[in-house]
Amino acid sequence: MNSIGEKSKWMGKKLYHYELIDSTNSEAKHLARQGAPHGTLVLADNQSAGRGRRGRSWESKAGDSLLMSVILRPELEPAKASMVTLVQALAVRQAIWKETGLEAAIKWPNDLLLKEKKVCGILTEMEMKEGKTDFIIVGTGVNLKQKEFSSQLRIQATSLSLELGKEGIKADSLAEKIALEFEAYYERFLETQDLSLLREEYNHFLINNNRQVRILDPGGEYEGKALGINEKGELIVETATGKLCYVYAGEVSVRGIEGYI
Ligand code: BTN
Repeated sequence: MNSIGEKSKWMGKKLYHYELIDSTNSEAKHLARQGAPHGTLVLADNQSAGRGRRGRSWESKAGDSLLMSVILRPELEPAKASMVTLVQALAVRQAIWKETGLEAAIKWPNDLLLKEKKVCGILTEMEMKEGKTDFIIVGTGVNLKQKEFSSQLRIQATSLSLELGKEGIKADSLAEKIALEFEAYYERFLETQDLSLLREEYNHFLINNNRQVRILDPGGEYEGKALGINEKGELIVETATGKLCYVYAGEVSVRGIEGYI
């Protein structure tokens, strides 16, 4: 049983847990449209239509993943909503470390990697009302117990069980840690409404830092050296001519020169 709401200030005071749902993000959106309060958490053991970034699907089997979405109702300019994704990346990284001792790295903006393979993805969605942020949904999928992945993902994905070399990852305990870590990081974020207080920590764990990256911008691909994020959560990239580019989360995809990282 989850006792997140007993330990938190506002996170998970309302909590829905489904055995199977289409997508925790879609369900959270539905609940938010009906007026569900800030901090409402949606958890599921499995999803039939899990969604990833850029229109991709997010596959899971019963009980093999941690699938969760939280509803936020901040006084925050819509343009700043995507920064919350980076806040959650820090929270999940910290929670995984506390729960398992594994040190995940962050691939900008919001993937978590173990041994350069993806173990967690985050999908942030926002709805506006009269030009203002109505609510933000932060959805997180963590690979817990998978022993293998479909051929497409095999080289790029891993699970906590695979990396620990043992089973018995406690989904409830990890969910609680993620939720409580997020609450704390998010409050730091709201102090400045940007990432100035979290930037140093984020850059410390950023796998792309000081590496050559290829920016898959719809307006044209380019390469450069990643220099970490700024306070807006943009990835700073220095091109061969010394020009600094500021890459906005959500707009583009980042790849290493020789592959995923
Ligand atoms: C990505 O890396 O593309 C983001 C994946 C996000 C997946 C999670 S699983 C829980 C929540 N519900 C969804 O439908 N998607 C997110």
